[in-house]
Amino acid sequence: MAKIDLPRENFTSKFGVIAAAAGSAVGLGNIWRFPYIAGENGGGAFLLVYLLFIIAIGMPVMLSEFSIGRKAQRNAIGSFKKLAPGTPWYFVGVIGVAAAFLILAFYSTVAGWTLEYVVKSATDSFADKTGDEISQLFAAFHTGTFWPLLWQLIFMGVTLAIVMAGIKDGIERYVKILMPLLVLMIIVICIRSLTLPGAAEGVSYLFSPDFSRLTTEGVLAALGQAFFSLSLGMGTLITYGSYISKKEKLGSTVTQVTIADTVIAMLAGIAIFPAVFAFGIAPDAGPGLVFETLPNVFQEMAGGYFFGLIFFILLSIAALTSSISILEVVVAYMKEELNMTRRSASIFAAAIITLLGVLCTLSFGVMQEVTIFETRLFDLMEFSASDVLLPIGGLLIVLFIGWYLGAARTREEVSNDNSLKVRYFPAYMFLIKFIAPVAIAIVFLYGIGLLNI
Ligand code: PHE
Repeated sequence: MAKIDLPRENFTSKFGVIAAAAGSAVGLGNIWRFPYIAGENGGGAFLLVYLLFIIAIGMPVMLSEFSIGRKAQRNAIGSFKKLAPGTPWYFVGVIGVAAAFLILAFYSTVAGWTLEYVVKSATDSFADKTGDEISQLFAAFHTGTFWPLLWQLIFMGVTLAIVMAGIKDGIERYVKILMPLLVLMIIVICIRSLTLPGAAEGVSYLFSPDFSRLTTEGVLAALGQAFFSLSLGMGTLITYGSYISKKEKLGSTVTQVTIADTVIAMLAGIAIFPAVFAFGIAPDAGPGLVFETLPNVFQEMAGGYFFGLIFFILLSIAALTSSISILEVVVAYMKEELNMTRRSASIFAAAIITLLGVLCTLSFGVMQEVTIFETRLFDLMEFSASDVLLPIGGLLIVLFIGWYLGAARTREEVSNDNSLKVRYFPAYMFLIKFIAPVAIAIVFLYGIGLLNI
């Protein structure tokens, strides 16, 4: 069945494209997830491997996703149907849509926590509390039922409202001013954190690589985190790519988004690890790390009340610009392939995701006994999406570009019909065809224990 190519909604400006893609990339992944995953996997060595994956795998995959989306002008599943008609390649998009459900489910749990922390900061709840008391506050809150659920519902409601309003009016507008402000806030926090007594230990934990602390699972976690943080492997950037105008330079968009995302993750690490050690918190404390650490830093800061409040507001907004990009993957698919309206697709998708999300939230509290493979539901969804589905999605995307679409057709898209030079193209193609697929496959198979040294 042939589809007529209607003119599609596009991002309206160069800055809009970068803002939207960076808005997707920068989020809880950088500030909540990066420090805690790095902490669990030994710090410095993890960081090195992570950076290597960002450059050798993340950037090429991002360029591939943008190219696929912009060439096809479709959603994550439709793009493959259009570029590879009559083949099973569309299955890559199916994996992406499945990942979107899982990721937004647990993402909205944590985003709900940040909303609670906006209120806790506003009401000065951390005032005069010791480190232990601050940790207890987090424990009491996130194992509860009513408040974590209410915040999650509110967060999903706002995400839904923005996605329902559509790409142009919804997504672009919010990211332009708030991202730079977030960076500024984190820099201020970094300065305070680095000047705490005992900060040096945290700096060395993050920056001196001790490879004896890095396991094969840790290497897989670094790969999963690279994909998660850059919003790769599930068609988010295929979907956004389809909204990028044919005049934009994809290569430089990739570079700018990657730099923004990586710098913010590093700054988050520098803000958190010195404080982790200064306040005697365990670096492998898990998903609560940021929530237990940063309130201590704000306490020790002149104007800490104000900084804490602004920080958690900005973090919630950063989470929102990511969550809309996750929901958009599902909505664009339902709208274009299942002929649903944007409105009903958004409501339907958000409702199912919220149901899953409720399970994630409750798995810290009343449902903590319900485990699968002795794993809490939250962790199970987080692991299976980030460390399994995203790498598999990424692997298939690079195979698609490298071995199906091929150099000529890809070059056409990346170079805006050969009007740009794209000197990096041969290196990109080499990474895509050989290095990235082999590396992803090996890391994945070792990481899940299917191969053994
Ligand atoms: N990259 C986002 C973050 O760092 C999360 C995300 C993952 C968004 C996958 C889209 C797709 O918070």
